[in-house]
Amino acid sequence: MTIPGAKNSVLKLMAATLLAEGSSTLSNVPDIIDVGIMSELLAAIGVRSEWVGPGQLRMTNTGNISPVAPYELVERIRASINVLGPLLGRYGRVSLSLPGGDDFGSRPIDMHLKGLEAMGATFELTHGVVEARAERLLGADITLEFPSVGATENILTAAVHAKGTTVIDNAAREPEIADLCNFLVAMGAQIEGIGSSTLVVHGVEPGELHAADHQVVPDRIQAATYLAAVAVSGGEVVLRGARADHMEMLLRRLHDMGLTITSSGTGLAVWATGRLRSIDVATLPYPGIATDYKPLIVTMLAVADGVGIVTENLYPGRFRYVEELQRLGADIRADGHHAVVRGVARLSGAPVKAPDIRAGAALVVAGLAADGETCVTGVHHVDRGYDDLVGRLAALGADIERVPAS
Ligand code: EPU
Repeated sequence: MTIPGAKNSVLKLMAATLLAEGSSTLSNVPDIIDVGIMSELLAAIGVRSEWVGPGQLRMTNTGNISPVAPYELVERIRASINVLGPLLGRYGRVSLSLPGGDDFGSRPIDMHLKGLEAMGATFELTHGVVEARAERLLGADITLEFPSVGATENILTAAVHAKGTTVIDNAAREPEIADLCNFLVAMGAQIEGIGSSTLVVHGVEPGELHAADHQVVPDRIQAATYLAAVAVSGGEVVLRGARADHMEMLLRRLHDMGLTITSSGTGLAVWATGRLRSIDVATLPYPGIATDYKPLIVTMLAVADGVGIVTENLYPGRFRYVEELQRLGADIRADGHHAVVRGVARLSGAPVKAPDIRAGAALVVAGLAADGETCVTGVHHVDRGYDDLVGRLAALGADIERVPAS
């Protein structure tokens, strides 16, 4: 199976096309709902997207931009916040409704705003709309309190047009951030320290950037989902395009759980024989174990031999799917940031409901490890980030089908 491009990269790359006039073609673009929503949002602002081939999305910025992000679109997708940096840096003003997205706990944007304020922007919040203004942003030294993915991206995409140099310290280092940096560089931006926690951006004049073509980095979370599916069901899979160097810590821990994984220049091969072993895991910003892997890890631990303790360090309320796993017979006790998972030999099929994208995928994986039938509802969440999860699992031999919602 070939791993498609990452949702959490492509949405940001799409927003970055606001920075320069012309047509940019993104390749390896996953066919997911969030790409469609981002296309609608950008169309409302003034960038048109069209599929020009399998996985190929052409984005055309004619320069006729209206820097207003309307509530009906913004509330559907967290990544809508990513239009803030490009619009503020290039056009000096933005009117943005506060974003929605996944429903797990509070997800503030104070670090985004503080960073942009340090560059001279002003913000006013009225009636749920942030009105942002800046004559011309000025380069600044910004140290993030926490390596926030979204804040790093917004400061970066604003800084490419700032006057002078911006240094972002304690920047997020996720592979999707490096992917965005590489796209910006292809557009003519000047960025040093790509892939590190200190990004140095030398601003260029508005109008100096140009459209560029770019291939989206493979989705490490989708890759992990197919690894988990094999881990709980047994067997083997080859994941073409999966990048072991982007999943190092996870692969190390999956090895500790008993999986055999080999990597080559073209992807990953995984074998699962026998029962998984339990481990303790804590989520951390990259290169630590991503919070987005966690529902998959909890699912694997639910059928592993022994007891595993899982600690969530990023989002306070991200254990809600545990109740659904309990319906399948998992023995899990979750309290605050921690979950204790006592592995059972088999889960037992039942109806369950997906609360968000990642938990939804994990419930599907849990269904593969359950006796009898598991029916997962709320799969529209899964469609936001997965490019045909059902078809891909069926192609691997899973007994799974999509049925119309009753
Ligand atoms: N935070 C703040 N203030 C801010 C920004 C973040 O307090 O100004 C806090 C958040 O509340 C959270 C933590 O910092 O507790 C991490 O937030 P971060 O900004 O790093 O995350 P994000 O940009 O909002 C992206 C992904 C998430 C993924 C996280 C962490 C996108 C669209 N979303 O969110 O992905 O969980 O990074 O890796 O890129 C998903 O794909 O299902 C998903 C939720």
